[in-house]
Amino acid sequence: MHEMLNYIDGKWVHSRTGKTNENRNPADDSEVVGTFQASSEEDVDAAVDAARRAYRSWRLVPAPRRAEYLYALGAILKERKEQYAKDMTREMGKVIAETRGDVQEGIDTAYLAGGEGRRLFGDAVPCELPNKAGWSERHPIGVAGLITPWNFPMAIPTWKLFPALVCGNTAVIKPASDTPLSVVNLVKACEDAGIPPGVVNLVTGDGRSVGNRIVGHPDVRVISFTGSSQVGRRLGEACGKSLKRVSLELGGKNAQIVMEDADLDLALEGVLWGAFGTCGQRCTATSRLILHKPIKGRFLEMLVERVKTLKLGNGLDESVDVGPLVSKAQRETVHEYVEIGKKDGARLVYGGEPYTRGECEKGWFYMPTIFDGVTRSMRIAREEIFGPVLSVLEADNLEDAVETLNDTDYGLSSSIYTRDVNKAFRAIRDIEAGITYVNGPTIGAEVQLPFGGVKDTGNGHREASHTVLDIFTEWKSVYVDYSGKLQRAQIDTESQE
Ligand code: UN1
Repeated sequence: MHEMLNYIDGKWVHSRTGKTNENRNPADDSEVVGTFQASSEEDVDAAVDAARRAYRSWRLVPAPRRAEYLYALGAILKERKEQYAKDMTREMGKVIAETRGDVQEGIDTAYLAGGEGRRLFGDAVPCELPNKAGWSERHPIGVAGLITPWNFPMAIPTWKLFPALVCGNTAVIKPASDTPLSVVNLVKACEDAGIPPGVVNLVTGDGRSVGNRIVGHPDVRVISFTGSSQVGRRLGEACGKSLKRVSLELGGKNAQIVMEDADLDLALEGVLWGAFGTCGQRCTATSRLILHKPIKGRFLEMLVERVKTLKLGNGLDESVDVGPLVSKAQRETVHEYVEIGKKDGARLVYGGEPYTRGECEKGWFYMPTIFDGVTRSMRIAREEIFGPVLSVLEADNLEDAVETLNDTDYGLSSSIYTRDVNKAFRAIRDIEAGITYVNGPTIGAEVQLPFGGVKDTGNGHREASHTVLDIFTEWKSVYVDYSGKLQRAQIDTESQE
C-alpha cells in the first residue's frame, strides 16, 4: 500500500518518528486506503519554520499574482474532480455525488478567493484635518495553522487555505486523522499549481502531538479550526493565553420547522436530504424536526414511508443514498445516543440499530433513525449526535416552533417550510442561527455567503464570503499628512476654521 508523506518546504518527507498510521475504508474495513505519517512536534516545528521563511517573500507577492495560483488550483481540482471524489468516498464513506460536491466546493472557493486578489477592499475616508489622507488596508498575519475535520475532507481545508493564501499568509495544515488522503490530494494540487516551497505545508498525525504543537507554536499567528465544541473550547483557551487569533467553527443542533401551510412534499424532500445526507455527519445536518401540530401525524407517516426506501451501501455505487459512518467509534457514539433517547422516553419509530445486511456487514453502517415524542429537555434534542438520527418535536404555532428551535446551546443552521411570507420573515428575524433557509433544508450553504454560527457554534468569526478575510488579515490604518506642518488631531479643530 502506498505510503503518503508530509509536505514540508516543497518536499514530500517522512516523519522524524519513522511511524505511520493506517487508514481503512469505512464501507469495508478490510480495505486499506493508505498509510500516513504519524508525525511529532518536531515535524510541526520543521513545517512552521519553512512557513515562516516562505512568508518573507510570499507576503510581498502582489495579491492579484497570488490569486493566479488559486485560479490554476481551481482548474487542477476541476480536472481531478472525479479521482479526488473517489478517493474521498473510499476514505470517509459519503456517497460519490456528495464527494463530487465536496471537491466542487473547493473549486468554488478557489475562484472566490482568487477574485479577492483583485479586491481585498479597505476604506478610504475623508480626514478631519486639511491636506491629510486616510485609509485602511488589509495585511497578512504570518503563519496560519489550519486544523481541519473529516466530514468535508477537501472543502473545509480549502475554505481556510485559499483565503489565507490570497491574503499573503503561509500555512501549516493538519488534516483529521480519519481523512488525510483528501488533504494530501489538495496539497499535491497546490504543488502542481506551482505554489512556491514553504507556502503550504502538510503534517499528518494526531491532535495530541501535531494539533497541540501547531496551536502552541509561538510562530503560528492565527489558528483556524473546525470540529467539536469540546475541542474548540480547549483550543480557544490555549490561544487566549498567548493572545493568538483563533477562528472556531464548531457544533450544531440544527432544526427544520414545517408549518401547516407548507408544501409538505417539498418539506419531506428537504428533511430527507438534511437529516440523512452525509449520513447526518454535517455540522449543518438536520437533527431536529419541529412539526406544527395540525400536520404532525400526516407528515411523520410520509417521512417514515420514504425513509424506508433509502438505499444504504458503498458510496461508490451511484444508486446508493446513504454511506457508512466514518468509523467504528462514530457508530458506537451514534448507537449510545439511540439508547439514551429510548431511556429518556422518546419513541423510536424507525431504525435505531447498525445496518449489517449483505456487503454492509463489512463497514460502519447505521440505519436512518427517527424518534418521535421528543421533548426539548431530552439529550437527543440538545446534544450534537453527528449521525443519521432525527428527533421529532411538535409546536403549537410559529412562536412556539421558533422558541423550540432556539432552545439549544448551538446556532449554526436552521430552516422553515411555509408558504406564508409573514411567517417566513418573522422566522428570519427571530431564529438564533448563523444561517436560515426558507423552503430549503439546513444543509447546502454556498461559498459566497458567510458560513458560521452563534452561541456555542463558534467564536464570532465567519468563513467563506469576504468575511473570511477578517480571519486572515490584520487591519492597518494609514494617515498621510501632506500639509507640511504638524497638525494635531482633535486639538487643532478651532484654528482650522
Ligand atoms: C459542515 O457541515 O461542516 O452547508 C460544512 C453545507 C456544506 C458545508 C457543510 N456546504 O451543508
